[in-house]
Amino acid sequence: MEAPIQDFSRYVGRDYDLDGVSLPEGSRAIIFYGAANRDPRQFRNPDRFDVRRDNAGRHMAFGTGPHICLGMNLAKLRCGPCSSRLRGRSNASISRRKSAC
Ligand code: HEM
Repeated sequence: MEAPIQDFSRYVGRDYDLDGVSLPEGSRAIIFYGAANRDPRQFRNPDRFDVRRDNAGRHMAFGTGPHICLGMNLAKLRCGPCSSRLRGRSNASISRRKSAC
């Protein structure tokens, strides 16, 4: 799924080892949500728009962990009418269009 926010950086508060990559205290780490949402290790056919895939809820569009988006539920609520319209379309039509939600 396309991530409206493609990346976000965070200040590294202490030396940290992330899967063998050392992040020194005081540096900045950038997470690329768009890339995470297309990670083939997480999602089968990652470039396919498929909101019904088994693990669709694992997307990173709103981040994750203690700093997950505070407005996530509001944003989902506001996207309701948009999703209803998309549900009325065929899968083929959905996969060709980019959703704003
Ligand atoms: C489609 C709409 C939105 C998207 C895709 C989005 C996405 C994100 C992402 C990716 C983050 C970073 C999460 C992380 O670091 O793990 C974030 C943080 C945040 N978002 Fe959103 N957001 C949306 C709408 C909103 C709205 C409507 C609000 C407020 C009304 C909001 C408030 C915040 C705040 C306050 C944070 C910082 C949370 C923290 O650092 O603890 N967002 N959002």
